[in-house]
Amino acid sequence: MAEYDFDVLVIGAGPGGYVAAIRAAQLGLKTACAEGRETLGGTCLNVGCIPSKALLHASELYEEAAGGHLAKLGVKLGSVELDLDAMHAQRVDAIKGLTGGIEFLFKKNKVEWLKGYAAFTGKDSVKVGDREVRAKNIIIATGSSVTPLPGVEIDQKVVVDSTGALELAKVPEHLVVIGGGVIGLELGSVWRRVGAKVTVVEYLDQILPGFDGDVRKESQKLFKKQGIEFRTGTKVTGVTVKGGKASITVKPAKGGAAETIEADNVLVSIGRKPNTDGLALDVAGLAVNQRGQIETDHDFATSVPGIWAIGDVIPGPMLAHKAEDEGIAVAENIAGLTGIVNHDVIPSVVYTKPEIAGVGLTEEAARERGEVKVGKFPMAGNSRAKTNHEPDGFVKVIADAKTDRVLGVWIITSVAGTMVAQAAQAMEFGATSEDIAYTCHAHPTHSEAIKEAAMAVTGKPIHI
Ligand code: FAD
Ligand code: NAI
Repeated sequence: MAEYDFDVLVIGAGPGGYVAAIRAAQLGLKTACAEGRETLGGTCLNVGCIPSKALLHASELYEEAAGGHLAKLGVKLGSVELDLDAMHAQRVDAIKGLTGGIEFLFKKNKVEWLKGYAAFTGKDSVKVGDREVRAKNIIIATGSSVTPLPGVEIDQKVVVDSTGALELAKVPEHLVVIGGGVIGLELGSVWRRVGAKVTVVEYLDQILPGFDGDVRKESQKLFKKQGIEFRTGTKVTGVTVKGGKASITVKPAKGGAAETIEADNVLVSIGRKPNTDGLALDVAGLAVNQRGQIETDHDFATSVPGIWAIGDVIPGPMLAHKAEDEGIAVAENIAGLTGIVNHDVIPSVVYTKPEIAGVGLTEEAARERGEVKVGKFPMAGNSRAKTNHEPDGFVKVIADAKTDRVLGVWIITSVAGTMVAQAAQAMEFGATSEDIAYTCHAHPTHSEAIKEAAMAVTGKPIHI
């Protein structure tokens, strides 16, 4: 009998875990992946990135048709009806296709799926269901789950988390969203587009913490214009449910009189916390930090030799592409190669309309580090955006004042999520704003706004 059952055992089959397992198998390592869910793909494919984008896409098309935008372009449809069941069915279909795809990839790469939740029984062993296995390397990729709000009970009927908000059977008349972060704005947008009144209650003075200051200000203005109401600088002190309706008690964050807001549904989206409960980390000799995360070094090795960790369960942004890149890197490190993730260049995208995207430093963070030059170009000056009747938003390029090296790029426009890849690649290659300004960009594209913003860094854009 071999000393170990596997060279690599991954715990969790989200974008971090399944990618790590496939890469490890591709590198010739005997690999298994434990997953407790019925389907592979983790939060992202089952209840996160994919279902939210399925609803965002469908609700955007509905609003374009029902709101008369298509008619203005000469596309007349007569009466437009919402078929919420069909909208949900295409969401479920998207999940089914993609989670099944991962199962296929596991089979193709000979990754064994151990069905069930894993718990450590030693430094190199775990129990999954009735089976105990030993592995030379164990990668913890257990992801994250919703942060609860004390005093607010999630019943997934009236008071929901993101999973419940993806599955509402009826359009609420009034949806109150607690937390003006990425989930609140994406799912708030979905339900507003199909007819709900949406109120976002945010503790801080501005929405989207972590994003560039100009972007936070401009995006709140745009969401307001779309009809979302904001109660910033406001905290929720309690939610009661009676007769299928919710009463939300709010107070100014800095103190003051309480008031009550009535709603049909409440979405709690105040952040996510790492999943480590039930793993028996102590048995393996591991502990978590103050934020509940497992700390690793640059190679994703934990303090216990042979145990590694990646994705939402370790520090850093909770993003699928960050988890995926860490999955590849950790597998390569285990195989004796050099797996690296550049955590300074991880793009972030909010998939609303317009999309909001950024990579690298915010202007505020860049200014704290030293002198910078900033170039900004409004989408109203971009011919393609104007032609498509999308004048909102801008591109902002932040460069080091001395070296001209690009430190951050922020974008608000319909295709910002696609455009930001160019900025990330330029930054990964150490580009200066001049490099971008002198790169030929196809016309007419939204991407020309990146070139113009780069030209604006030294004060010479053409179209404003
Ligand atoms: P997860 O995807 O959380 O996967 C972890 C898996 O581990 C889960 O399937 C869980 O069942 C399993 N698991 C946990 N404990 C055990 C155990 N003991 N044994 C066995 N299995 C276990 N990110 C983006 O980049 N883009 C987006 O558009 C986006 N949209 C999102 C929308 C929503 C509504 C939400 C909630 C999140 C979204 N995210 C998005 C974030 C993204 O889903 C996460 O960053 C990503 O899924 C993290 O990947 P992971 O592999 O670390 O963990
Ligand atoms: P978030 O961290 O993005 O936003 C939470 C918001 O809630 C913050 O603005 C915070 O100030 C506010 N808040 C916290 N406590 C509050 C309280 N008591 N009352 C009112 N407001 C309060 O978290 P969110 O939106 O839950 O998303 C979780 C994670 O999922 C994020 O880290 C994000 O990276 C990831 N995600 C990514 C997406 C994407 O990449 N497009 C989409 C959805 C989620």
